[in-house]
Amino acid sequence: MARSFWGPVKPIDTQGAVAEHHRLRKTLSWPHLVALGVGAIVGTGIYTLTGVGADRAGPAVILAFAVAGAVCACAALAYAELATLIPTSGSAYTYTYSVLGETAAWIVGWSLILEYSLACSTVAVGWSAYLVGWLQAIGITLPPMLLAGPHGGGIINLPAVFVALAISGMLMAGTRESATLNIILVIIKLTALAVFVLLALPAFNSDNLTPFAPYGFGSLEQDGVKRGVMAAAAIVFFAFYGFDAVATSAEEAKDPGRDLTIGIVGSMLISTTIYMLVAIAAVGAMSYVALGGSAEPLAFVLRTLDYPGAASAVALAAIIALPSVILVMMYGQSRIFFVMSRDGLLPAWASRVSPRTGTPVLITGITGLFVAAFAGFFTIGDLAELANAGTLLAFIAVGACMMILRKTRPDLPRVFRCPAPYVVGTLAVLGCIYLMASLPTATLERFLIWNLIGVAVYFAYGRWRSLAGKDHPVTGL
Ligand code: ALA
Repeated sequence: MARSFWGPVKPIDTQGAVAEHHRLRKTLSWPHLVALGVGAIVGTGIYTLTGVGADRAGPAVILAFAVAGAVCACAALAYAELATLIPTSGSAYTYTYSVLGETAAWIVGWSLILEYSLACSTVAVGWSAYLVGWLQAIGITLPPMLLAGPHGGGIINLPAVFVALAISGMLMAGTRESATLNIILVIIKLTALAVFVLLALPAFNSDNLTPFAPYGFGSLEQDGVKRGVMAAAAIVFFAFYGFDAVATSAEEAKDPGRDLTIGIVGSMLISTTIYMLVAIAAVGAMSYVALGGSAEPLAFVLRTLDYPGAASAVALAAIIALPSVILVMMYGQSRIFFVMSRDGLLPAWASRVSPRTGTPVLITGITGLFVAAFAGFFTIGDLAELANAGTLLAFIAVGACMMILRKTRPDLPRVFRCPAPYVVGTLAVLGCIYLMASLPTATLERFLIWNLIGVAVYFAYGRWRSLAGKDHPVTGL
């Protein structure tokens, strides 16, 4: 086995070398993957964080969506190239293992836990708020202490815990069933966003767009909060990721080259178009100050425009469909744990696949508990910002790995070739670094602590148990 500064480097061609009882079934094709991508991408980011973005950047939140979307598009192209070249589970973790080496891969995998698990927790908390608001509108009030964690002034956010556990149960029942349900949920939430745009856009008033960027472009602390277009972009970035969850299902794709390319790039394009329309419709319809103060901005705009029925319908769509985001992100997380365990960096029991459902049942259940615990006790802002930090690190690794591999292994048969790879890769890496620097300082400190814990775990366990170069009992590589 080759070695680098970062430890052992996994061989690139691991396809087909996995023992039967450890192999995931090939049940997914590109319509499932586009739906998986859109299911993971369109969620709390657009339904909830649009308001937070307007608060941080003013009407220029439109620009913030464009900046975050452009950076994500570059990362998506790098992902598509690597996902089709290395079509095994594990996403950024696996790519980093095959390009940089084990220690770097561990750090990326550890950051992916933040991306996938905390994104699930974030969406669970957002879902809980929509549910509570909707129930209140029909006269049902739940005890406030059971609707927020200690940081939010309560004891535990029970609805958020409930939805996290329910979704992990569904995933344990089997991939195919969950993917089919996901398609229905995707249709519901896209319809709701279309209704929003159709009703809000006619109320567009260009006066609402001035001043366009009241807090300027760069992320600067103003009154204790980081504001500016980049501060908003660093938050609404949350709205864009999820397409990489498609890459984690590579091993289960029937025709990885075609299915993954269409799945990743297609879902990214659809979502970016929708976000631009929703953001323009929202800030064009009312003052950004009012929009920024709302926890349910889309329903708020519709109510203000005197469409109470449509406002309720959009809220209900969010309640029904946001769990699809949790579904896809939790799916991605359990697969990453699965692969890390298969490599020996996590205990072996985590990579056992149930012969009945073809899914890693035990690790999926543990992931559900982890997601539920964070959703139960932390606020949506804290969770989203930390999830973004983890995702940005993973995207930086993917951009870098794509470029390095072009240099070191130009011979490899690339099913999908990223256009202008060094320009796109550099834009992805620098864009993600800029977005990360625009996050609140407290988030960056938490992220550093998380990674220090990760490195300690690696040197206490994974480094010694790693199967790299030890005649891997599963992959044989
Ligand atoms: N992009 C996903 C969302 O906005 C994580 O909910």
